[in-house]
Amino acid sequence: MRHEIIEKNIGLMITLILVAISFGAMVEIIPLFFQQKTTTPVANLKPLAALELEGRDIYIREGCVGCHSQMIRPFRSETERYGPYSVAGESVYEHPFLWGSKRTGPDLARVGQRYSDEWHRAHLYNPRDVVPESNMPAFSWLFEAKLDGNDTANKMIALRKVGVPYTDEAITTAKDDVRGKREIDALVAYLQQLGTVIKR
Ligand code: HEC
Repeated sequence: MRHEIIEKNIGLMITLILVAISFGAMVEIIPLFFQQKTTTPVANLKPLAALELEGRDIYIREGCVGCHSQMIRPFRSETERYGPYSVAGESVYEHPFLWGSKRTGPDLARVGQRYSDEWHRAHLYNPRDVVPESNMPAFSWLFEAKLDGNDTANKMIALRKVGVPYTDEAITTAKDDVRGKREIDALVAYLQQLGTVIKR
């Protein structure tokens, strides 16, 4: 009978549904902030080098995440194709995460070292040159644009504030590591390290 009171009072029902959902969310989400497994970096995880960090920002700017996920799920169909499934400890230095959810193209979580730098350059210049049936857009302007490195050190300082362990040395040399390099070189450097902390 008490249930009938709830069912006949939509305001009360909405409130109780919200309470139930919030409770469920709390039980699922809050422990993740404190679990070792999700907060401890995997062995040998290093912050991105200056050039790779700039490459990551180009990856974000060009919207690669709109077509490519970086998250291999723990299913056989995924691990056979892409390699070991992604674990949280690989992403603790990622701000923001680029896990993505749309897969117009393949997952890139472990694409590092799978192809040569030349392959990536040819592919990004015009994907059809190496994969004739590809519908990925060409990114030929990355071959002309150069980096000045003016913001690289500040990006590292900002990341250090949220827990990425950049050394003072890495921050001091950041500008020189990046200056004069082409955007394509930064992007390829970023791609080539993806997922390489965990060996196949
Ligand atoms: C409109 C969707 C789309 C966008 C945007 C896009 N890609 Fe792709 N990408 C694809 C498709 C489809 C493929 C598969 C065909 C191919 O290899 O070209 C692919 C393949 C790839 C591959 C090869 C993966 C493998 O395992 O063979 C890499 C690397 C890649 N993309 C990188 C990038 C980068 C870097 C960017 C951003 C600069 C980007 N993609 C933007 C659709 C996209």
